[in-house]
Formats: sequence, C-alpha cells, structure tokens
Amino acid sequence: MSSSSTSYLPSRPSAAHRRTQPPKATGVAAAAAVPVLHRDAAMDPAPNPLPLFRFVAFGVIVFLGILQFLPATHFRHPADPHRNWVPMESFMNGSYSFSPSGASGRENTKVVTSNREEDGMVHVVSWMECLDLQLLAVLANSTLTSSRNPDLMYFHFFIPGASEDKLSFFKLKVLFPNSHLEIHGQENVKELIKNAMLPLEPNFKELAPFAIPIILESLTKFIYFSSDLVVKGRAEDLISLDLQNHGIAAAEDCSKRLTDHVNPDVLDAIQRSASRSWVSDTPYEKNACIPDLSVLLIDARNLRKDFLKAVSWWTTVLKWNKSASKSNPALFLTLYHNYLKLSSSWLSVRNEALPESTSNKMVIPYDGPKKLCSAPGAGSTLQLGRGDLWKRYLPPMSSQILGQ
Ligand SMILES: *[C@@H]1O[C@H](CO)[C@@H](O)[C@H](O)[C@H]1NC(C)=O
Ligand SMILES: *[C@@H]1O[C@H](CO)[C@@H](O)[C@H](O)[C@H]1NC(C)=O
Ligand SMILES: *[C@@H]1O[C@H](CO)[C@@H](O)[C@H](O)[C@H]1NC(C)=O
Repeated sequence: MSSSSTSYLPSRPSAAHRRTQPPKATGVAAAAAVPVLHRDAAMDPAPNPLPLFRFVAFGVIVFLGILQFLPATHFRHPADPHRNWVPMESFMNGSYSFSPSGASGRENTKVVTSNREEDGMVHVVSWMECLDLQLLAVLANSTLTSSRNPDLMYFHFFIPGASEDKLSFFKLKVLFPNSHLEIHGQENVKELIKNAMLPLEPNFKELAPFAIPIILESLTKFIYFSSDLVVKGRAEDLISLDLQNHGIAAAEDCSKRLTDHVNPDVLDAIQRSASRSWVSDTPYEKNACIPDLSVLLIDARNLRKDFLKAVSWWTTVLKWNKSASKSNPALFLTLYHNYLKLSSSWLSVRNEALPESTSNKMVIPYDGPKKLCSAPGAGSTLQLGRGDLWKRYLPPMSSQILGQ
C-alpha cells in the first residue's frame, strides 16, 4: 500500500476495491465511507506529508523571514499625504537623520530629498574643522532655545570623519532627542573645493558654506552658523529675510577694511585692466567694510555658479600667501557688492570688544573651552574658556555624554 493511501480508507482490505471507490463517489459507498473516515482520523496520527514538502514549506518561511533583513531601498514619509515612495540612497551618503521621535517614541527616517523652501523648516548648517561636540551642542541648544518654534529647526552638521563614525550623531541625539539633526561627512565638499581651487591650497572652512549647497542639492535657502557661536536671535526671523535676488546675506564688520587685506593700488590696477564678471565695473571703495563670515544667509538658487572660480581667480591674481596673512581677501573681493547687508546685531563680536552692546546681540562668540586644530597628526589642544555663557546651554552631565 502506498503511503499516500494511508490517509484514505486505510481499513479497506484490497487495493483494487479502493481504485473503484474514489473518495468523491456517490450514493451508498460514500455514505458508508464517511463514518469510517471519522473513526480513522480520531485513531490515527496526523496526516504525514512528504518530507520534501516539509522542507519546501520550511524553506519558504525562512526565506520570507530573511527578506526582512534586506536593506530597505525605498521608504514613505509619514507626513507625506500622498505616501510616495522615496529612494533611500538620497540620504545614505554619510548623512543620517531622524525626525522628532514623537509621542510613540518611534524614530522615523526623514525625507531629505523634499527639502524645498515650502518644507517650512529652518535649515541651519555648520562646519567644524576639529571635532568638538560641546561646541555643536551649545550651537544647537542656543539656537533651539532662542527660537519661537524649535520644532522647525533642522541642523546639518559637517564634521570630520562622520562618514565612518556615527557615534557623534548618537551622542548629540541623546541631548536633543526630539530635534531634526543630520551629521554629514566633509569629504565630498572638500573634494569639490579642492578641484575648484587647484592648484591652490584652499581654506575649507571659509569656502564650505558656498560649496555645501552644490553637494547637498536639497538645501536651497539656509543659514550658515560658524560652529563657535552662541545664538541668541531667532533663526526663523533670519531665514525669512527677503534676499532681493542676492545669493548671500552677511553682517558687515567695519573694524576691518578691504584695504587692510589688499594693496589699494594693486586693486585699482586689476579693476582697470581685468574684465571678468566678478571684477567690479567701478573702482573699489577703499574703506569698504569686510563681511563677517560667521553668520550667513544663503539662497543657493541665487548663488553665482562661478563663485569658487572667482575666489580661485582672485587668489591667484593677488598672489595671496597663506602663511603671511590670516584672511584671504579673495573671498571678500568675490563677495564685494554681491551680498545683502544683515543687521549688525547678527555680527559676531568678542564680548570684551563691545561689552555694553552684547544684550541686543543675536550671536555671541562661544566662550567655553574648545579644542584647537593643530598641525595634522599632532592632535588637538584645548583652549581655555573665557566666560560662563556657554554653560547656560549645556546640562551639567553633558560632558559625560559628549565625551569631553
Ligand atoms: C552616493 O554616493 C555615491 C558614491 O559616492 C554616488 O555614486 C551616488 O550618486 C551618491 N548618491 C546620492 C543620492 O548622492
Ligand atoms: C609666504 O610668507 C612667508 C612668511 O611671510 C614667507 O616665508 C614665504 O616665503 C612666502 N611664500 C611665498 C610663496 O611667497
Ligand atoms: C538647553 O538650554 C536650556 C536653557 O539654557 C537648558 O535649560 C537645557 O538644559 C539645555 N538642554 C540641553 C540638552 O543641553
């Protein structure tokens, strides 16, 4: 008797009889078979399928289970009314972000691709040469606490080594669990700047704000804050300023003049002889103030496409010597008459410079201890703090979390 027949009418003595009496037979035979079947089912063990089927079924279950571990390729944003599928790769390039975890405590991946101006977020970008999370924490918290609507703040921090090291992101996430926060690597931005400035040795920190929107195309209008600031103004007021066709807005620092950085006679000669789109048609004002680069409002749509090329040209033409001077005048000359003037309250000044006016300041230089970048390989040294303002924006246990 074959194994498949054991579940059907096994008490039938003859195989020949079974063949003439299929289960669906009608009339008396079927009626007689039913009670037999019930009795057998109660007495016999459960049906025993082919071992092969068991293997196949088990395999299918394991396969479906393993599917869960495949990396997701697309996702849908919970706030998107159309629930569109968005490719993951757009934010897998060294950047990580989470939207507010919300009441459910669930972390949602945040759409980075749909960052148009109408996304209503206040995008705040910063760039750091030597990793010092305490500065970023003070920058983020002072921006958040000064804001009328902290939920709208969206931080993009570019830090060294972020592509390999996600720890910094999680440390900051412990302090600011409900904030929009992204940590980016610097490699792509540095590569872009290096290529635009060849063969010169660029100052990445100075040029990063103008190169970042080329790499992070989703950024259109954003605020750049230097990483060593305590923000007391409202970032949402700053970002809502009308740039009037300018790509950049910056406050002016009139304690420094253009001619402190570049020889006025050389500048006149260049202005008369060189016809480039980035050279002024009219003679340069010798006493023009210098834009302060620690707070910038940038609209990438109006940023000139040849911005880095212009900086590179000016640097070459002026034969600027990096080791002889601190600031590269090429950047000031590229920006000359090319930016909207911000209110001087957004000018970052040292506390001791204008102590009486710090009360209406929107930004104040970070006054805590900070790591200083030194020669490559030499590690970083610590600069002692000068004040107590920074402490207001960090809880006492934060240094343990940030690993200072
Ligand atoms: C991510 O990086 C890879 C290689 O660096 C690049 O080919 C790809 O275009 C990038 N994707 C996005 C969305 O930037
Ligand atoms: C740059 O300036 C330094 C110090 O002033 C000097 O030693 C060096 O030779 C200069 N380099 C060039 C290329 O002019
Ligand atoms: C942020 O700053 C506020 C106000 O100074 C302070 O009360 C709070 O503890 C800070 N939060 C964090 C996470 O540092």
